[in-house]
Amino acid sequence: MIFPASLINFRRGVSGMNSFEYVVYTDGSCSGNPGPGGWAAIILLGEKEVELSGKAAATTNQRMELTAAVEALSHLPSGSAVRVYSDSAYLVNCFRQRWMDRWQKNGWRNSKGDAVVNRDLWLKLLELTGKRSVQWHKVKGHGDDQLNARVDRLARGAIRHDCPGAGTGESCPRPKNNQPSLKKNKAGGRIGILTGGGDCPGLNAVIRAVVKGAAHNYGLEVVGFNNGFMGLVENDAQVITDLAVSGILNRGGTILGTSNRDNPFDYKPQGSDYTNTGEDRSADALVNLDHWGITSLVVIGGDGSLLLAHRFSKLGVPIIGIPKTIDNDLPATDITFGFDSAVTTATEAIDKIHTTAESHHRVMVIEVMGRHAGWIALQAGMAGGGDIILIPELPFDLLCIADKIDERRNRGKKFSIIVVAEGAFPAGGEPLYEDRSGVRRLGGIGLLVSREIEKVIDMESRATVLGHLQRGGSPTSYDRVLATRFGVKAVELFSEKSFNRMVCLKGNSIGSVPLEEAVAGTKRVDPDSEQVRSAVAVGTSFGCRL
Ligand code: F6P
Repeated sequence: MIFPASLINFRRGVSGMNSFEYVVYTDGSCSGNPGPGGWAAIILLGEKEVELSGKAAATTNQRMELTAAVEALSHLPSGSAVRVYSDSAYLVNCFRQRWMDRWQKNGWRNSKGDAVVNRDLWLKLLELTGKRSVQWHKVKGHGDDQLNARVDRLARGAIRHDCPGAGTGESCPRPKNNQPSLKKNKAGGRIGILTGGGDCPGLNAVIRAVVKGAAHNYGLEVVGFNNGFMGLVENDAQVITDLAVSGILNRGGTILGTSNRDNPFDYKPQGSDYTNTGEDRSADALVNLDHWGITSLVVIGGDGSLLLAHRFSKLGVPIIGIPKTIDNDLPATDITFGFDSAVTTATEAIDKIHTTAESHHRVMVIEVMGRHAGWIALQAGMAGGGDIILIPELPFDLLCIADKIDERRNRGKKFSIIVVAEGAFPAGGEPLYEDRSGVRRLGGIGLLVSREIEKVIDMESRATVLGHLQRGGSPTSYDRVLATRFGVKAVELFSEKSFNRMVCLKGNSIGSVPLEEAVAGTKRVDPDSEQVRSAVAVGTSFGCRL
């Protein structure tokens, strides 16, 4: 795709993580007034592009021009920056000269006093442009602008070809010669999706799998709510196009944004302070789901987000859960995506700490995440050859740790590596919390172990907290594949109307379980498990007598 020079200095988007730089060409066409009409849009993002088109049985040219703009903008994320090119002077001038301000003041009457036609579409455009940074540009109709000529041909072509949205102005993908035949979808409607709770590598891979799986196999559209449950309450959402998920498989984070402080049942616009003093905004969420024509909501989250999803299922929202957390502590799945990536990051860190521990003959303590379960500490500790692994499931004894370090020293090993989960605590004690502006967060156990150990043995110690490093960066290949399998399964559940379930991994098979099972308790490390025994068998200490 060659860009016209005028597009090169494209304006940056509105602030926020959803800012993209889109160029959009729109056009409408109608034979008769009213008569059969078609609309089309070409959306460009960098070198990628998508074409949208649709038709209506009896309509007008202006209605088709407006529909093209509405459809194109609804496909772009909130917060994005967009340049719209149209040959409709009426549409472009309306926005450039703020006609709608006057219409609104005059009770939707134009300067002649007549009722403004197509008010529904103008209002929709007002809403869409309020959430995006849009610049309007007039192009010469039938001029030498190649993209305008193409979008014009598309709109005319749409009048002729059949599509499911005929007569409604609904989006209608252009048929391609090699397009696979679509599978039967019993559920109908649209899929909503959100990512809730702490982020982790693999979220984008799931979003991509849901969007592509839905479009390619069932011709379904997916609407993404931004920033977790906040987007659902505030109606901050957009259709996620194939284009928006292109190239995100290997990207960490989530293109939708997330939040672990937004509970629609106890809602505060500035984020929950966990005092149960917020407002119940669940009714707004239901209205918003309805507004987008969503027939099932896919919630990608850990224990907190899935509990909220479960509450919505009790209100009648058909839910599909996808388990996510680096902690791997959800009971109904063997593995959550994100875990393998976090373990890989922690293992690499332990490998690096190893070399400096050896050079300086020190005791090095590495604190990893894991609130109630020690999966990351156990897995990364074993993979990185940690000498001592401390997990919440096995309260530790400082003297036991000291014994292990001594035993190693007597064998000529002048350094030791301790891997400690953030939720680990001493026998008879409790987990350590930091109190930051009234919010209790786990933290500080690594430093405490390091300081205390120096007091009982004659060696220097240092502590490193890996923290959010474990949640960042690219997903591992394992997580990309697992996330893709989860996303595809979620769409399959949707198409079968198999709702209020969470997809899961059992052994190497993808399946699903009722949501009740998914939110029942925490999956913790079993101290009698073969994995713990294997670690002990190669000399690893858990800081206590096993
Ligand atoms: O649930 C995942 C987790 O990584 C926990 O292990 C950790 O305590 C928590 O998230 C931290 O969340 P945040 O700092 O983003 O609030």
